[in-house]
Amino acid sequence: MYQLCPSILSADFNRLGEQIKTLEKAGVKWLHIDVMDGDFVPSISFGMPVIRSIRRESEMFFDVHLMVTAPERYIQDFVKCGADSITIHAEASDDPELAIELIKDAGVKAGISIKPATPVNDISHLLEDVDLVLVMTVQPGFGGQKYLDDCTEKIQELRELIDNENLNVEIQVDGGINDDTLETVMKAGANLIVAGSYVFSGDLEHNVKNILRKIDKISQELD
Ligand code: DX5
Ligand code: ZN
Repeated sequence: MYQLCPSILSADFNRLGEQIKTLEKAGVKWLHIDVMDGDFVPSISFGMPVIRSIRRESEMFFDVHLMVTAPERYIQDFVKCGADSITIHAEASDDPELAIELIKDAGVKAGISIKPATPVNDISHLLEDVDLVLVMTVQPGFGGQKYLDDCTEKIQELRELIDNENLNVEIQVDGGINDDTLETVMKAGANLIVAGSYVFSGDLEHNVKNILRKIDKISQELD
């Protein structure tokens, strides 16, 4: 099942609630929420209070991407704020297995993410334990960067691993998704498509409808 996961990192925070409503009305089911701590990545985004506020007004699936060092410290907090899934970085934790266990024990879906330089091999032993793998296709930390072509192979490698072992794991891609790269990542095997600047630059409603149509068309061609 393909899903567009708009990243609110690129939203206009002065109109965040309104923009989330626009996404919901256009048929978006997943909302990608990028939390940055200024340590694992250079920048700082937002945290619990923002998520708690938007949770009150939205029925969407809250897909929380933690770009945070030692994420196991915050699992309970993000679940309380309304996360439906929590994705941690393999590089950010001394014990990713434990972090994943904590996420699942808290009753939400668990994801593991890898930066562009981290090989799939580093997390292949975790595939049985997670609901999704997030392949970063730019360096985590900022929206609006260019897709890194080398990452396509990693998506393919993961797709093969997951299919060969008949695992129920979704593949999410994040970074630099636009008209030129959408088809590439979907063909490589990704089914959860994060898009930030591509969706939020200009006319949000028009952009979302446009990319949803494209995802639908490409998915039909892939069937
Ligand atoms: C980057 C974030 C992304 C970001 C994607 O660290 O994880 O979710 O918002 O932005 P675009 O789609 O603009 O590359
Ligand atoms: Zn993200």
